[in-house]
Amino acid sequence: MTQADNIDAYASETGAAIDAAASLDEIEKIRVAALGRSGTVTQWMKSLGTLPKDERAAAGARFNQLRAGIEEKLAAAAQKFEAAALAARLATERVDVTLPVKSEIAGRIHPISQTIAEVVAIFGEMGFRVAEGPHIEDDFYNFTALNIPPEHPARQEHDTFYFPESAEGHRRLLRTHTSPVQIRTMLAQQPPIRIIVPGRTFRSDHDATHSPMFHQVEGLVIDESTHMGQLKGCLIDFCRAFFGIDHLPVRFRASYFPFTEPSAEVDIGCSRAGGELKIGAGADWLEILGCGMVNPKVLEYGGIDPAKYQGFAFGMGVERIAMLKYGIPDLRTFYDSDLRWLRHYGFLPLDVPSMVGGL
Ligand code: PHE
Repeated sequence: MTQADNIDAYASETGAAIDAAASLDEIEKIRVAALGRSGTVTQWMKSLGTLPKDERAAAGARFNQLRAGIEEKLAAAAQKFEAAALAARLATERVDVTLPVKSEIAGRIHPISQTIAEVVAIFGEMGFRVAEGPHIEDDFYNFTALNIPPEHPARQEHDTFYFPESAEGHRRLLRTHTSPVQIRTMLAQQPPIRIIVPGRTFRSDHDATHSPMFHQVEGLVIDESTHMGQLKGCLIDFCRAFFGIDHLPVRFRASYFPFTEPSAEVDIGCSRAGGELKIGAGADWLEILGCGMVNPKVLEYGGIDPAKYQGFAFGMGVERIAMLKYGIPDLRTFYDSDLRWLRHYGFLPLDVPSMVGGL
């Protein structure tokens, strides 16, 4: 048998093995046996040097042809298996576009924003509109026009952040409450006035229950026949709607604010039995807001005739009522920007009520 016969026999033997192979693995084994470093064809090619010179060229050409033929068959077979594997994967990994989508993790509404939205929704239902004012205020709006003249002790209680004095001796400040918006609104419009003012306020104070920046909601109603009965009814309705307790006990306790006369603080009924605070039950009281009939001097500062009009006003701390309603123990955590906290205490966007029940 000539070497050519040998090569032909090997080619057809290998070709048959490739045709019979049942997997990519088997194809690879055939490739190694033929073309690997110590494979048959490789060995034959290595032995070229031992052949007589005049036979080398022809033998080399035959080996190259043999190798090319085997490589071609191997590639075709491999491609067949790869195509089959791909088809199988596509069949099993098929995406069913009709399946419901897995919901993305949505952002959360901060409890401060949620609480403001709730308060605004409740007073919105009663016919109040939202008003706003600047954070940087003049002494006049923050104090003087609210019947807090320069030497009044209430100024000390406010721990005010002042800006450096201007050349004209004018000192601006960060508003210490939302009450200056009362004056701005009075000067901008005539009664009837019915506004609610959510916003940031600032005092130089920092501990577990005070933050240098916090939020208040102010309310102001002025009309010809506004009276204290309306103030009481409005705030009782608000407290019950906000806490979602129909028969929540609400108490008005005489108090003092320079800008209201008479003034009151509003308490809601609670129990502190066993160290646990429960709103709406028990014999204890919890202060939640300040209010009163607008002092006639304040109406005058606002350009409104106190002989013709009277009004009531109220103000509450947003953090405080949010902590009470949602059981948030530490005020400072509101501003930590801790996402785990927000995931726990935050609200899904759709939880913001369009209107709150219980009214
Ligand atoms: N401005 C008062 C405060 O910051 C709250 C208040 C507003 C009280 C309106 C009465 C009327 O404490």
